[in-house]
Order: sequence, then structure tokens, then C-alpha cells
Amino acid sequence: MSRLNRTDRPYDIVLFGATGFVGELTAEYLAAHAPEGLRWAIAGRDEMKLRRLAGRLSGDGVGVLRADVSDPASLRALAEQARVVASTVGPYVRYGEGLVAACADTGADYLDLTGEPEFVDLMYVRHDARARETGARLVHACGFDSVPHDLGVYFTVRQLPEGVPLTVDGFVTAGAAFSGGTFASALGQFARGRQMQAAARERRRHEPRLVGRRAVTPTGAPRYAGEVGAWALPLPTVDPQIVRRSAKALDRYGPDFRYRHYAAVRHLPVAVGGVAALGALVAAAQVPPVRRRLSGLLKPGDGPSPQKRAESWFRVRFVGEGGGRRVFTEVAGGDPGYDETAKMFAEAALSLALDDLPETAGQVTTAVAMGDALTERLRRAGITFRVAATR
Ligand SMILES: NC(=O)c1ccc[n+]([C@@H]2O[C@H](COP(=O)([O-])OP(=O)(O)OC[C@H]3O[C@@H](n4cnc5c(N)ncnc54)[C@H](OP(=O)(O)O)[C@@H]3O)[C@@H](O)[C@H]2O)c1
Repeated sequence: MSRLNRTDRPYDIVLFGATGFVGELTAEYLAAHAPEGLRWAIAGRDEMKLRRLAGRLSGDGVGVLRADVSDPASLRALAEQARVVASTVGPYVRYGEGLVAACADTGADYLDLTGEPEFVDLMYVRHDARARETGARLVHACGFDSVPHDLGVYFTVRQLPEGVPLTVDGFVTAGAAFSGGTFASALGQFARGRQMQAAARERRRHEPRLVGRRAVTPTGAPRYAGEVGAWALPLPTVDPQIVRRSAKALDRYGPDFRYRHYAAVRHLPVAVGGVAALGALVAAAQVPPVRRRLSGLLKPGDGPSPQKRAESWFRVRFVGEGGGRRVFTEVAGGDPGYDETAKMFAEAALSLALDDLPETAGQVTTAVAMGDALTERLRRAGITFRVAATR
């Protein structure tokens, strides 16, 4: 199936989970920024909620589709009506697979906001081959996980010489709060360490080895990073996995590429406190009754207020080296978890639907599927990508 013969589908973009916290922000962003003539729809399990949301959106003519993750036929019907399906229905490891399967099978492009490595690996093992046959692009982690890191490394690599070994370190700082959906996904993930490792092993068994090049993302040791003037703590998120996949797919990352991913904290006591708090949360998530109590602290659909979001920010600094050159770059913006995530997610959906992109299919990262086009879109939408210094 070629991508061209999907233009007869009724919608360019369908947003599934539109009535959730990030879903609504994404729907509002699309209503405000979609080009004239874009055919798009909001989808979810509750038709009343969807109709109320459609009424509030300023854009005319937004469609409404009912689909439920417990009803595979409704997911297939949804995928068949769309060129691009964007899903905010998480935790994805619990709710996500049916829609990925439907998109892979019907040739619809798919994107999501997962930060769950287990989900990404399982979807590769189970649906990448079918998506390649139909031409569907399956693009996970299109929010703060992992767009600034994936595109930030892509941007940094392009400031360095070609054809030589390259190293990039990323240092994340942010001031922000999180929603019920994100908290539930994080807790669920902390409790699934064994399943995550099993999925990674399963993927390694299926995925072709990289021949003649190397791309690795070792966990760095905690250290004082003089190059950014902060304590650097290894950050165990999905981001390095995504960056590694981009590096494996794109020759521009050179013959021998290494990326390390850190949280950057200025003061040592804050760093120590952060590690202790994370450790306590991971330990608590192992005990089901405690996990359930913690999940109850933040309800699905809840999230930080507009005022709290307006005060939130993120900055990711990268230090890249290779071929005798050292470059300092930065990706920065406002509220990482919600306002900017909705922007990144909506722009990624628009890019898949409208931009002239490299021919790709199957499970692909944001850098591989739409690196230049999405970087440019995000810059125009107010996210900074800049070279701070070169040496
Ligand atoms: N990558 C990032 O940086 C990032 C940032 C933010 C969020 N996220 C992730 O995005 C996801 C959503 O977060 P959120 O805060 O928006 O969560 P949320 O407010 O709880 O929204 C979840 C959505 O899923 C829908 N849903 C639940 N069960 C369903 C079912 N059986 N069938 C169809 N739809 C169903 C809900 O529908 P109803 O409205 O009908 O309840 C709601 O629209 C989470 O997995 C979170 O971790 C990622």
C-alpha cells in the first residue's frame, strides 16, 4: 500500500484520548494552529464528553468519533478513517497495543506520548514488520519524552564533522508539575522492571544488528559536570533508547556514536534529595496496595493549573564532541509536561500529515521520520534550538 492512496480517508488527523488532560490541550492547539482545510477529528470512549469538547473548540468542522480500547473493532474503524492517528490514551502498556495493531494493519500513521520502554520494545517486536508492509509509520514518544532529546541530539550532531566518532552528553533541567495520567504511567513503569528487561531482550532477538557502525547509550556515573556547572545524575528515562535508535538509523551520527543522558542539578543536597525521593517512589511502587494508594493521590484527567504551567520551563543542554570540535547546544521552552508536550505532539501529527518527509515505514523515531521538518515547526512555534558556543 503506498502512502498516497490514503488521501481518500475522511480525516488527515484523528486525536484519540482528546478528552484527557493532554488530549484537550492538544485539541486546543490543533484548533488554534491547524492550517485551513485540515480534516481532523477528536476521538474517545465518551461521546457526550467529546461533543462538549467539540463545542468548546473554536475551529469549525471538527469531527467526533467514538472508540474504546476494549473494543478492537472500534479501533480498526478509527484507524481506517485516518491518515494519521495521534493517541494520548495511556498508560500505553495497559491500553495502547490495540490501536498500534490497527494502524499497522490499515497503513495509518500512528504517534503517541509514551515514555514506557517496555511498550516501545513490544510494539517493535509485534507490529514493526506489518507496518513496513503497509507503509505505516509508528512514532512513539512524541512529547517531552523524547522530542527535545531526540531532536536536540540530531541538531547537535549536525553541528559536528561528518564521518568521525562522535560523543554527545545531554543535561536536562526543568521546573514543572505533573498530571494524574503521567503519575499513573510512571508508577506502573516503576513496578515493571522485570517485564521491561524481558521486552528489551525480546527486541534484541528480533532487531537486525548494526553492521560496520556503533551506536551506544551507556548509563553515565553521577559526577560534577564542569562543562555545564552542575551535578549530573544519570536519568533512566526512555530518551537514551530513542536517541540510540535514531543513531542506528542515520549514518550522519558517524561510525562510532555515544550518548549519555543526565539530569543536571546545581546544588549537591538537591541532587542527593532527588535521588532519595525517586528511590523511595520506585520502592513503594513494588508493593501493590501502596502503589494503589499513591495512584489515588492524583486522579486521571487532573493536572497542573494554567498558572502553574505558565511558570514551568525546561532546558536541555548538550555537549557534543568529535573530529577536534566541541559544540554546546540548547533546546528550551515552557511547561515541558503539558503545554509544550501538546505543542510537540500536535506539530508532530501535522508534520506526518502535511510535510514532505523522507520515505520511512515501521517503528521510527521523531528524528528519523521528520527530523528537519519537525525541528523547524517547533522553532516557529517558540521552542528554542540554538548553538550556545563552539570550540
Ligand atoms: N511524553 C510525555 O512527556 C508525556 C507528557 C504528558 C503525558 N504523557 C502521557 O500521556 C498519557 C495521557 O496523560 P494524561 O495526563 O492526558 O492522562 P488522562 O488525563 O488520564 O487521559 C487519559 C485519556 O485516556 C482515555 N481513556 C482511558 N481509558 C480509555 C478507554 N478504555 N478507551 C478509550 N479511551 C480511554 C481517557 O478518556 P476519558 O476522558 O473518557 O476518561 C482520557 O482521554 C499518559 O500515558 C501520560 O504518561 C506523556
